[in-house]
Amino acid sequence: MVLMTYCTAIVILAWALCFSSIHCAKNHQKIGICTFIVHPVCPDPSINFYLYTRENQYNPQLVTVENITESYYVKSLENKFILHGFNSNMTLDVLQSIKDEYLMQADVNVWMIDYHDVAAGPSECYFAAVYNLPAVGKCSALFVRKIIELSEVELPEEVMHVIGFSLGGQLASQISKNLKPIKLPRITGLDPALPLFYSSHLNRRLSRNDADFVDVIHTNAMIQGQLAPCGDVDFYVNGGLAQPGCHNSSNPISCDHHMAPTYFAESIRSTTGFWAWPCPSTYDYFTGKCPRHGDLELMGECVNHSATGQYVLHTNSEPPYAQGDWNCSLDLKTIKLVEHFRRLSCLNSGLLKVVDDSVYTRVDVADGLDFRIPEVTGRRKSAEGVELGKIKTTRGDETCDGR
Ligand SMILES: *[C@@H]1O[C@H](CO)[C@@H](O)[C@H](O)[C@H]1NC(C)=O
Ligand SMILES: *[C@@H]1O[C@H](CO)[C@@H](O)[C@H](O)[C@H]1NC(C)=O
Ligand SMILES: *[C@@H]1O[C@H](CO)[C@@H](O)[C@H](O)[C@H]1NC(C)=O
Ligand SMILES: *[C@@H]1O[C@H](CO)[C@@H](O)[C@H](O)[C@H]1NC(C)=O
Ligand SMILES: *[C@@H]1O[C@H](CO)[C@@H](O)[C@H](O)[C@H]1NC(C)=O
Repeated sequence: MVLMTYCTAIVILAWALCFSSIHCAKNHQKIGICTFIVHPVCPDPSINFYLYTRENQYNPQLVTVENITESYYVKSLENKFILHGFNSNMTLDVLQSIKDEYLMQADVNVWMIDYHDVAAGPSECYFAAVYNLPAVGKCSALFVRKIIELSEVELPEEVMHVIGFSLGGQLASQISKNLKPIKLPRITGLDPALPLFYSSHLNRRLSRNDADFVDVIHTNAMIQGQLAPCGDVDFYVNGGLAQPGCHNSSNPISCDHHMAPTYFAESIRSTTGFWAWPCPSTYDYFTGKCPRHGDLELMGECVNHSATGQYVLHTNSEPPYAQGDWNCSLDLKTIKLVEHFRRLSCLNSGLLKVVDDSVYTRVDVADGLDFRIPEVTGRRKSAEGVELGKIKTTRGDETCDGR
């Protein structure tokens, strides 16, 4: 309440300053140590877009709406768009890990926005960052729209995947709002921030309506993240409040919060998988009403886009964090023999997604049988019918008892 009063006072001050002075000519207004975007104009020099590809994995390329086609951007490749949060920037190690995992796994365009000047700390400026979010969303949407227009990706769901950490999760929602009537195929919210969105033009938080599919990972709910479900599917890791690897951390709250992107980064290449089971609420979880049971869903990059509801899962306290799907797993030894396949992932309900460079093939996997790639389109036509390996075990509740 005190905070709200304080914030309201700041906003009134912001508007008063703006209306009463020639400072209005400036788009940004500093009030105390906090920066407010009083006149949103795009492009805004504080809102920058960077591209990482396999050509420049460690040297981000600054790109504007005008010069996207002069960058390393490849129209035929999937787009991942990563958003940082409050008092942070795109160099945050967990976000860099997500980028690195993607580029190791597949040839993709990884975009990052950097808006640290208008989302800067200290915590007293959180309200300024929230206040600025619609303006950041507006400029970002112009950029995202351009990429979507240019994209020549075959599968619509791969045209644009927006991944927002913390306040970035709420920014994803603002981008979605400004993209209309275009709808984003997917948003992943990584411990999306508890909003402070009480005034009417800010009354927006990430929800399942913001994209065709919204998946959310909760690791520090109620403190820095949202407790309420806000996606089509919501994963509450270790119950969603605190993480086992953070008990000994010098800053457990920050550690818990940052585990959402940490788990997500691991999920991109994990062959073990963060398998989760349904649980109606965190209350049920903490009162022991959600033992591990069937109907598993995979959390993270490879989540099934038809998944809905609330899920819980356990993790290890150190990397690799994923605990897998009981004992059942793919026999990876045989698969690794096929070296030209860079990516084998997303084992999901008997469907294996095989990605070779930019070529995607879906292979049906039958229990215990050899499997083949029935058809490969694109660059590697000669790979038609290549035998990959043998599935020793698959998941299935009849054969897999819980650990
Ligand atoms: C795009 O334009 C910006 C601003 O002029 C410039 O700094 C950046 O280097 C350009 N990027 C490319 C890929 O040409
Ligand atoms: C970006 O964040 C890192 C910490 O993650 C910090 O050390 C660095 O100074 C920040 N850079 C800017 C330009 O704010
Ligand atoms: C935390 O520290 C204690 C004592 O040093 C240790 O026994 C425990 O395993 C640690 N827990 C984690 C999760 O690292
Ligand atoms: C996703 O889940 C749906 C419904 O449970 C299922 O029919 C479908 O095969 C699954 N898709 C994949 C890729 O596993
Ligand atoms: C899981 O693996 C362990 C060790 O390999 C084995 O002893 C156990 O029987 C397996 N459980 C199931 C259900 O397969």
